Amino acid sequence: MTKIAPFLISYVDNLGQGVSKIGDKITIIKKTLPGDSGQCIIFHEMAKVAFGKVSHFEQKSDKHDRPICPHYDECQGCHYLHTDYKTEISLKEKSYGLLFSSLIPATHIKTVKADQRSHYRNRIQLHYDKRKKIVGFKDRKEIISVTNCLMASLAIQKKLEELLQGQLWTLLGHEKNNGHFELYEKENEVKLSINDRYASGGFSQVNLDMNQKLLTYVKEKTASLSSKHYVIDLFGGNGNLSAHLDSETLVVDGHVSSTSGNRHQTFSQIDLYGKNAVTSLQNELSDKPIKCLILDPPRSGLKNIVDFIDLLNPEEIIYISCNPQTQKRDLVSLKELYDIESITFFDLFPSTYHLESAAHLKRKKVSS
Ligand SMILES: C[S@@+](CC[C@H](N)C(=O)[O-])C[C@H]1O[C@@H](n2cnc3c(N)ncnc32)[C@H](O)[C@@H]1O
Repeated sequence: MTKIAPFLISYVDNLGQGVSKIGDKITIIKKTLPGDSGQCIIFHEMAKVAFGKVSHFEQKSDKHDRPICPHYDECQGCHYLHTDYKTEISLKEKSYGLLFSSLIPATHIKTVKADQRSHYRNRIQLHYDKRKKIVGFKDRKEIISVTNCLMASLAIQKKLEELLQGQLWTLLGHEKNNGHFELYEKENEVKLSINDRYASGGFSQVNLDMNQKLLTYVKEKTASLSSKHYVIDLFGGNGNLSAHLDSETLVVDGHVSSTSGNRHQTFSQIDLYGKNAVTSLQNELSDKPIKCLILDPPRSGLKNIVDFIDLLNPEEIIYISCNPQTQKRDLVSLKELYDIESITFFDLFPSTYHLESAAHLKRKKVSS
């Protein structure tokens, strides 16, 4: 039997979902805003939390906007297109600010906004089903048909349109029935790769404008470094974050596609989540003290960061993360040894709940 319940949205969580808190009852409703109220259909219920879908609004926040994307209702890729960018930013600042509130005062948290809210991705991955002739994004096991993703760059959008009107199914002819393909910009061209994990040759940032802002930030934080210093760039990919430095830099990643970065960079391939990661890293280090550790792990963060810090003992840390939740967990474990000077949010993925968070830490002075 369908269950209908009243709701009143109190806040938006860091997954961009409205949270209704009536008494002890917490109901999560996507695509709502603080102040919205009405009735919702409960489609999943657990002991303390229920998940609902709006069936009827009694009051609707005046911050609601008509979504610019035709796929927004079904696609799970974007989370904030039901409001304007100013509101999106302020909701993200609030929810992520709250996450870090036990570690750092709000005045030490800044946000760097995006200039473009759509068409910023230079790479998109789509799933296909040859039998159903569907192309789109995956939501659990199902593919939601998306033929026109507004987050893709205009060049990628155009290429996708051409493929869908022409050769796509022929190109997928010998491929498995269900798989994925990637469209990515390289050397001023949009390239297609099918069922390949590292299509564009290792990790690369998807939002180049925002990557520039991130690089400006890293440059500012490392402005005092010179050629006499030693730097480690962990989860460094192609060396993006340390390319501007003069200091001797060891770039470590699990996937090294080229060992020829800039002259000051040396690349080393290590599985940093592996059992022997710390020992393998130790073998690659010179005996110089480490001035700065730059760290940019995948979403899972670096749970045993303390083991790495014990080995590296850097004076400063710049910890960049695309998952503030795991970043916070890792920062908590460094609290005794380092002061968090600042946290800067970079809106690398506008329209979605994702956010890049950069923390700047300095080693505590040992009192004598
Ligand atoms: C968020 S990216 C950061 C890349 C780089 N800092 C940049 O700005 O382009 C995370 C990096 O972690 C690397 N990675 C993923 N799993 C890894 C592992 N087990 N060991 C080492 N590196 C890994 C990926 O190859 C990727 O380059």
